[in-house]
Amino acid sequence: MTRNFELIWASLPSPAFVISADGMIVEANVAAEVFTESSLRHMQKRPLDAFTGAGSALIDVVRQAQLGMNSVILHDVEIGWGKQSRGVANVQATRLLNDADEVLLVLHPRGIADKMDRSLSHRNAARSVTGMAAMLAHEIRNPLAGISGAAQLLAMNLPPEDKEMTELILDETKRIGELVNRVEMFGDLRPLSPSGVNIHDILSRGKRAAQAGFASHMQFKEIYDPSIPLVSGDPDQLMQVVQNLLKNAAEASPNGGTITLKTAFSPGVKLSMPGKRSESLPIVMTIADNGPGIPDSLKNDIFDPFVSSKANGSGLGLSLVSKIIVDHGGIVECKSSENGASFQIMLPVWHESEE
Ligand SMILES: Nc1ncnc2c1ncn2[C@@H]1O[C@H](COP(=O)(O)OP(=O)(O)O)[C@@H](O)[C@H]1O
Ligand SMILES: [Mg+2]
Repeated sequence: MTRNFELIWASLPSPAFVISADGMIVEANVAAEVFTESSLRHMQKRPLDAFTGAGSALIDVVRQAQLGMNSVILHDVEIGWGKQSRGVANVQATRLLNDADEVLLVLHPRGIADKMDRSLSHRNAARSVTGMAAMLAHEIRNPLAGISGAAQLLAMNLPPEDKEMTELILDETKRIGELVNRVEMFGDLRPLSPSGVNIHDILSRGKRAAQAGFASHMQFKEIYDPSIPLVSGDPDQLMQVVQNLLKNAAEASPNGGTITLKTAFSPGVKLSMPGKRSESLPIVMTIADNGPGIPDSLKNDIFDPFVSSKANGSGLGLSLVSKIIVDHGGIVECKSSENGASFQIMLPVWHESEE
């Protein structure tokens, strides 16, 4: 069997270079061109250290590989290219078994691995809530029904001018009941039974519901890629995600602002989890606002349960978002600046064969 190695080289998802014995860049694949934002023509026949600087750990790794027979792997290397940082990557260098003593240098950028770590830790946080949630919900619901029943009875014998207090009791017990319902969703451990979901449907239904209610003071902007395929997911749960994000965006801008809903197809993102096949997450849905952004003190914790900056906040909205998206095999990320907060969700495509 003959293989077209050029093609394999070109489609390799990790940036890869071939470095000559005297440290020149001989080859760079497409991923390397994208990663370094330089063309192969620009890089070829130039020394690697002209781009990375002579002190770069990349140069060390290549040199070590030239000396030994084994692969050299270095974790968490800060990659500088030209005058810019290209982020952190794990770096692997292997001497090619040809006469020229060339070295194959492969980078594994840390971005995706980090995203995965973060998603997984959100999931654990959500997990620790699930058991407690089911129990609490059960324990609270019965006395709550008793309280509101008693308040209704009291109200019947009160003159209208005294009913204000019983109404307050009824309103507040209703609020607790709703909170219990929300908490209880964490206890829902049924496995997801995904179907093919049109994400634009979900977004525009979520938008309409929000406009009619909690987001009536907001402007909406929709930037949809009409060609994106169906998402593999549960429509009700994805609707819940959209609603929670829209609600936060609306609450962040009490005096009005703009919420941008965006979809895109970006085949680059892959998530592989222990024990599962690696999943490509090409469908990207973004919900962004131009409010004040996430408070600095909460930035690292917003996906944890009970984290809230709001007087009456439950801190469960984003925790539930995170749980649902992780259950979908997806990733949720948050970017925030003084120009607003932006939540990006990456989801897998629906395949007919899943039915
Ligand atoms: N779009 C946003 N803009 C600014 N801050 C936000 C936004 N979304 C979430 N947050 C912050 O994250 C916190 C947690 O959100 P969430 O889990 O939905 O709980 P809650 O809305 O009940 O406070 C919020 O209290 C708020 O401080
Ligand atoms: Mg919320």
